[in-house]
Amino acid sequence: MIPESFIQDVLARTDIVSLIERYVPLKKGGANYMACCPFHNEKSPSFSVSPTKQFYHCFGCGAHGTAIGFLMEYSGMSFPEAIKDLAQQAGLKIPEDNAPQQDRAQISSLLDVMGRATRFYREQLKHSQKAIEYLKQRGLTGEIAARFGIGYAPDDWQGLHAVFPNDYDSPALLEAGLVIQNEAGRRYDRFRDRVMFPILDQRGNIIGFGGRVIGQGEPKYLNSPETPLFEKGRELYGLFQARQAIRESGVVVVVEGYMDVVALAQYGFGSAVATLGTATTATHIQKLFRQSERVVFCFDGDKAGRKAARRALESCLDQLADDREVRFLFLPPEHDPDSFVREQGLEAFHRAIHDALPLSEFLLRELRGELNLATAEDRAKLVHEAKALIPKISAPVLQLQTVRMLAQDVEMSSDEVSRALGLRVTSPRNKAAARPAGRRTAPAGPLRQMLRLLGTQPQLIEHLPADAVSLAGDGPEASILQTFLDAHDHHGFSTSTVAALFESCQDETQKFILGELLQASDEARADDAAAREELEGHIINLRIALLNHEHAELTQRIQQGERLNQEEMLHFKALSAQKQTLRSGQKSA
Ligand code: GTP
Ligand code: MN
Repeated sequence: MIPESFIQDVLARTDIVSLIERYVPLKKGGANYMACCPFHNEKSPSFSVSPTKQFYHCFGCGAHGTAIGFLMEYSGMSFPEAIKDLAQQAGLKIPEDNAPQQDRAQISSLLDVMGRATRFYREQLKHSQKAIEYLKQRGLTGEIAARFGIGYAPDDWQGLHAVFPNDYDSPALLEAGLVIQNEAGRRYDRFRDRVMFPILDQRGNIIGFGGRVIGQGEPKYLNSPETPLFEKGRELYGLFQARQAIRESGVVVVVEGYMDVVALAQYGFGSAVATLGTATTATHIQKLFRQSERVVFCFDGDKAGRKAARRALESCLDQLADDREVRFLFLPPEHDPDSFVREQGLEAFHRAIHDALPLSEFLLRELRGELNLATAEDRAKLVHEAKALIPKISAPVLQLQTVRMLAQDVEMSSDEVSRALGLRVTSPRNKAAARPAGRRTAPAGPLRQMLRLLGTQPQLIEHLPADAVSLAGDGPEASILQTFLDAHDHHGFSTSTVAALFESCQDETQKFILGELLQASDEARADDAAAREELEGHIINLRIALLNHEHAELTQRIQQGERLNQEEMLHFKALSAQKQTLRSGQKSA
């Protein structure tokens, strides 16, 4: 983990123009520098580098980013590598990692032995007719076996001795979980006569193994123990291989077993990952949402599968957002994803994923359980049970929707249910006040214009009104605004630039939106007063847009023949008046 403030320092000391110039000849053109884009083929220059924004973008192919992004794109460096490179050029010393030198040395020696073991197992697979037969019989081709690095641990108590002739007794082998040491101090291989599934972390390092017995036997799967490299509750099998398919399909499917992931890939479904025989943790969910906004949990149709689904449900409630979607797919009891796709084919699996049960429905189904809703007692019990789950839903609209569904079940009004669940009830009167927790109503237009302005003129952040965040609602734009404010609180923007803001966004959606905005944005202007006026203009537009929205909602209800109560009527009138005031304020401004 590189500290955020260090990234900001590096950017502040880097000049993107001189950086890029070292790779691509730049020509001055107006405020910017231009070149033929290094990221796509072109004859006339559409690649532009802005010294004020410290940002590059290409009108042709849309590539854009900061100095860090440029290095990553151009030279294929990872994020930390790019930072390190820039830091060195700027003469900055990378802050010592929290991990002491010794730990890092240990990690790298563990990774080294894991790598050597993997190569050995893969090599052994070529020589084991039995293991090859087994994989074939399970429908796997050599290509897929290679893609997942599948190998074979020979039936030999010290098979690894062949790869570690001089260091079979090194501490690393034991710490990596590759060998077991008995009380007499004698060592032997942990994995013997098993098909080996390497477990990769997100960078592609091999951090553990799952070994399957060939045919029948106990235990069916033997996993690496927890080691300094490998923590089961954090890792997802197959994620490294699935990344591209996930991006392309927009969905990630979580299954239970190694073989499920591999078999799905074999049949052309590349976006599956598996938890490693553990319950789905909050860390898993975070990782999943970082890859995709749509997550489908696909559990076996048996009792264990249901239990696993319930755990997954509980772990993800507080990480939901209204633009995220979680579904649950239960296969017929006799199937797991592997057997299902084998028997029914890829199309059927796609359909099953598509038709999977939305989280809200699964949640209610779980709650209903065996209850008999014909009785008042069981209806009360249902609401009582719901208290443990529904308030945890962090997606405001989805929470409201779920409350409504529950309300129907228990023959109560949504407000009554909300109260019983201890949720804030938003009557129309205080709807405006409740906006921050409310729905994503902030219109993207004025908000985006405001972000664009703040992006080019970060010093304006200081002039935001106190309620800016609540005006922004809770879409991704609001998160960007929040990120801006946080970054400003932490680092100030005396030396900083739009590039610094950009890199302080950690979420890919935020980065994407901001990148698009910044491409279209003007150069920073010196005239502070004019910029502040523009900011005020955007804020007013935002307020008006919000009022309009609320006004329109009430108007619609009136038009639909609904009678507003007195309170609502007053609010309606107040809204109209506020709109007037804001409009005239806007004109005089
Ligand atoms: P196949 O029988 O090869 O198709 O395996 P599967 O993936 O269908 O296995 P299953 O559904 O029985 O188990 C799902 C996952 O649980 C496996 O991929 C393992 O991660 C884990 N698991 C299964 N059996 C064992 C076991 O005996 N020991 C341990 N530690 N984990 C197991
Ligand atoms: Mn199976």
